[in-house]
Amino acid sequence: MGVNFLVTKNDVYQGLVDLGIKTGDLLMVHSSLSAIGLVEGGSKTVVDCLLDVIGQQGTLVVPTFTYPSAFPDSANEKWVFDPESANSGVGSITNEVIKRSDSKRSIHLWHSISAIGALAQQIVSQGGNSAWDFKSPMGWLLNNGASVLLLGVPYQNLTAIHVWEIEFEVNYRLDYYIERRVRESNGNLKPLFSRVYSPKKNHPGSDFNRLGEKLEFLKKVNKGSIGNAIARFFSAEDAYCLAHEMYKVDKSCFLKKDNLVTQLTFGKTINNGKGEQCVVC
Ligand SMILES: CC(C)(COP(=O)(O)OP(=O)(O)OC[C@H]1O[C@@H](n2cnc3c(N)ncnc32)[C@H](O)[C@@H]1OP(=O)(O)O)[C@@H](O)C(=O)NCCC(=O)NCCS
Repeated sequence: MGVNFLVTKNDVYQGLVDLGIKTGDLLMVHSSLSAIGLVEGGSKTVVDCLLDVIGQQGTLVVPTFTYPSAFPDSANEKWVFDPESANSGVGSITNEVIKRSDSKRSIHLWHSISAIGALAQQIVSQGGNSAWDFKSPMGWLLNNGASVLLLGVPYQNLTAIHVWEIEFEVNYRLDYYIERRVRESNGNLKPLFSRVYSPKKNHPGSDFNRLGEKLEFLKKVNKGSIGNAIARFFSAEDAYCLAHEMYKVDKSCFLKKDNLVTQLTFGKTINNGKGEQCVVC
């Protein structure tokens, strides 16, 4: 763990408030629990604080992805997606959200999202079989005033960019459909068609940090720390507008150049063996 002192519930709550997160926010969160330090009460405390800060008018959204690189079982053709019980492969804070009785989950084989709060049901019921087009749950929330919190993780996790890649019709990704099954709440199994948006062969790898660094340069990101985690809070609309400007000038603006990802200048980026974390020290 990055720090060996206890991070209290009040530290987490105050850190979120200091970033500018407020009542009524529609908040998409990408996170690493261990980047924060030793959090009193663990992921439960973090989710409680997020919900306390946005209040009953707000909505908390997290990715609850089950894609094969995070959750190998889902590559199996016999695998059944069960939205009520399938763990998320993208962090313990996201699994804490799934566990809550008032949590709603969208249906997609590999890229479901989960939400709690005022707009939760509306968000997860959007769209068809794509996780990323503008009609999808993710597309809908980006179009409806969402903000993003990166809690101890870099912009590389900003999956929203796939929504914009679809809109901009980038030529380095491929659409295809996979068919598996989903377990409905009554226990019945139903066919599940999911549209997947994967990198084409020879894709050089993504560099979403480039967009983030520019966004910070333009002072569109509230930066701070929660425990030892670097926290970044910004509006999805601001990120979209900049992404659009960048793409008009450079069609490869979301891709690594010379096999390198843009280094973030605020805080330190380290790899804990499970993924990249952004920390103070
Ligand atoms: C991969 C990733 C989740 C790993 O982060 P992490 O902090 O190591 O893991 P989690 O957030 O799941 O937290 C669990 C870890 O916290 C630590 N932990 C346990 N209790 C804790 C506590 N009370 N306080 C702080 N940390 C604690 C443990 O190291 C635990 O790991 P273990 O279960 O392997 O022992 C993170 O780096 C990441 O990439 N997050 C973003 C994911 C995302 O949004 N992806 C979508 C786009 S690609």
